[in-house]
Amino acid sequence: MSELKGLILSGGRGTRLRPITHTSAKQLVPVANEPVLFYGIRSMVAAGVTDIGIILNPETGGEIREVTGDGSRFGDGVSITYIEQASPDGLAHAVLTAEPFLGDSPFVMYLGDNLLQGGITGLVREFREKEPAAMILLQPVEDPRSYGVAELTDGRVTRLVEKPAEPKSDLALVGVYLFTPRILEAAKAIEPSPRGELEITDAIQWVVDQGDRVEPHVVHGWWKDTGKLVDMLEANRLILDTIERRVEGTIDEGSEVSGRVVIEPGATIERSVVRGPVVIGADAVIRDSYVGPYSSIAAGGVVERSEVEHSILLERAQLIGLEGRIESSLLGRDVTVRRGERTPRAYRFMVGDNSEIEIL
Ligand code: TTP
Repeated sequence: MSELKGLILSGGRGTRLRPITHTSAKQLVPVANEPVLFYGIRSMVAAGVTDIGIILNPETGGEIREVTGDGSRFGDGVSITYIEQASPDGLAHAVLTAEPFLGDSPFVMYLGDNLLQGGITGLVREFREKEPAAMILLQPVEDPRSYGVAELTDGRVTRLVEKPAEPKSDLALVGVYLFTPRILEAAKAIEPSPRGELEITDAIQWVVDQGDRVEPHVVHGWWKDTGKLVDMLEANRLILDTIERRVEGTIDEGSEVSGRVVIEPGATIERSVVRGPVVIGADAVIRDSYVGPYSSIAAGGVVERSEVEHSILLERAQLIGLEGRIESSLLGRDVTVRRGERTPRAYRFMVGDNSEIEIL
């Protein structure tokens, strides 16, 4: 088999994560203070896949290129090629867009907003050994209606349906796939679905219908698609559960910092309680506050006279003087939530499109 390439899909619309995705790509939202996308890149590199293409949406792609770079930050010999997809017309359309990069190589495709606990090293090995036309990853889910769903007969993949109204199985397609160039033929042969996208499920179905072997692999570790807020917070929780304590910032004597915490250089904790697992980014300030488990505060964040837990704050977000505790929240860059000092006392908002606010 010729060298296996990597393809990461980081285009798309990201409508379910608005307003964050009005100004940035969802694949750059940090989980434990590192962009979601980097986890996919690192797991490819760990599996020996170093020639990686990344699909971009022209609107948000510039920032992805800037932050991710040429690949050298992920290890020696890692090369990243950026591929613009003119419009997000489906996962199979993204594969077609990547044809000049892929050539006739087999490849592992990873959805840039997905996280897979166990990595892909074992899967890549299995794919090389069994040499199927494609290998798909599956996981049982409670409500399969919002996923691509696979039906198996005698251990073989027989049918794939995108977001079925009446699912015939509970096996959802995990966002990692291993393909041979057969999938390019399939993507050319299929028609757009009723929602106007070239669906990867239809392309894989085409391969099955040709009589080629599509190998199922049920994933046992956790898998998260971070395309929605609750799942993003859950991914943050799962990753924070794996961190090791590292304190490089300053903690004053009046503070109590317990559990597994990462406190980056330049961060200061004053008269506060921090209970891990928590990451606090460079130059962040935590003052007279409580930062509880499963919080990720990015660089330059400020939490003052406030309480927060199970939340993600992006760069320079600020919480100041709040009465109630903030939880299960995602705050964008430079967002400020603070107690107003003016009278009459009132809620005052300056909020962008598609924002969501829940008050006490
Ligand atoms: P989705 O989350 O299925 O689609 P989306 O990003 O458009 O989001 P939403 O449904 O909230 O509007 O996409 C899965 C991954 O694949 C994600 O990382 C974006 C990427 N993608 C592409 O690169 N090109 C595409 O044409 C599509 C549909 C998705």
